[in-house]
Amino acid sequence: VVDLSSQYGKKLKISVFGQSHSAAIGVNIEGLPAGIKLDMDDLRAFLRRRAPGQSELSTARAEDDAPEILCGLVNGVTCGAPLTVIIRNTNALPADYEKIRDIPRPSHADYAAHLKYGGHQDVAGGGHFSGRLTAPLCVAGGICLQILRGHGVDICAHILRIGSAGDQAFDPVGVSAGDFGAIRGNPLPVIRKEAGEAMRLEILDAKEKGDSVGGVVECALIGLPAGLGNPMFDGIENRIAGIMFGIPAVKGIEFGSGFKGSERRGSENNDAIYIEDNEIRTRTNNSGGILGGITNGMPILFRTAFKPTPSIGVEQESVSLSRKENVTLQVKGRHDPCIVPRAVPCVEAAAAIALYDAYLDK
Ligand SMILES: Cc1cc2nc3c(=O)[nH]c(=O)nc-3n(C[C@H](O)[C@H](O)[C@H](O)COP(=O)(O)O)c2cc1C
Repeated sequence: VVDLSSQYGKKLKISVFGQSHSAAIGVNIEGLPAGIKLDMDDLRAFLRRRAPGQSELSTARAEDDAPEILCGLVNGVTCGAPLTVIIRNTNALPADYEKIRDIPRPSHADYAAHLKYGGHQDVAGGGHFSGRLTAPLCVAGGICLQILRGHGVDICAHILRIGSAGDQAFDPVGVSAGDFGAIRGNPLPVIRKEAGEAMRLEILDAKEKGDSVGGVVECALIGLPAGLGNPMFDGIENRIAGIMFGIPAVKGIEFGSGFKGSERRGSENNDAIYIEDNEIRTRTNNSGGILGGITNGMPILFRTAFKPTPSIGVEQESVSLSRKENVTLQVKGRHDPCIVPRAVPCVEAAAAIALYDAYLDK
């Protein structure tokens, strides 16, 4: 079976390659206009936000995540040829994962991959299913974000919830670049500092118990022109949702008032339209900036749900595929008790790719 599941995009085509413990992982990007100067320091800073081993809250696996540009860039400027970027894997410990080929981890992709690839899948570090593949996603997204910023667009995500610890939500109408700066300055990307402290305790509690915890990332996109996207199956919601589910551990997405909106009357949920200084806006933004799949000029707002990290030290039920018998499993190795903080730049990156692709489409 030939599938092209690691590619995304229409006008901008990205192709993510590599496995967690292969020589390198990377991304090929086709469709970038020629003549764009890339800021590599900015890109490296963006990647550092995703890298593990930076605090007590993430895995001790220290990965440098240094991007190496193989082609597509001349003197720091895009030349119109495909841009290929690799990140070498330098911190692999394949022995950590030997057992996984026989005993799949509950709620990881091990068993599904075994069925699909007949046991030929690379199990080390989760192979091509690893959260590590979000590093090349962040390379492509970090580049798209730089270009979008040049067009007056900005994107920022924050942790809305971890376990039972919640942050305040973005103001759906008034969210601005000023809010973004404050979020990025916090140790955990949150709006209210105290929320970050409660989340830290939640993560440390899970870690101490050998367990893991999930959460929700909220993302806002501002400065986008109205009229991006298409109806039916090619809307901005479709495109954003499609790429978000490419981030491992994403299990849900909602736009605007989302599931809460479904509990309301139309009179409460409709966004009243008004005109001021010749500009048409809406009083509320329960639509999350998208109507009929098309941007309406209001901020785009969505929330992405992340499940708890599947690999945990707590004993769980699984099976031995070779012996065909029930066994128990305690996952060893280096895993994040909570991937949500590291997933925040991944959500921004994925949104940047989807929106820049839609931008080029227009
Ligand atoms: C940044 C990031 C890091 C991750 N790290 C781990 C990890 O250390 N251990 C683990 O079991 N899962 C980790 N995951 C999640 C798994 O890759 C994911 O749950 C698995 O591939 C199954 O895919 P699904 O949850 O989307 O169905 C990580 C995900 C992300 C986004």
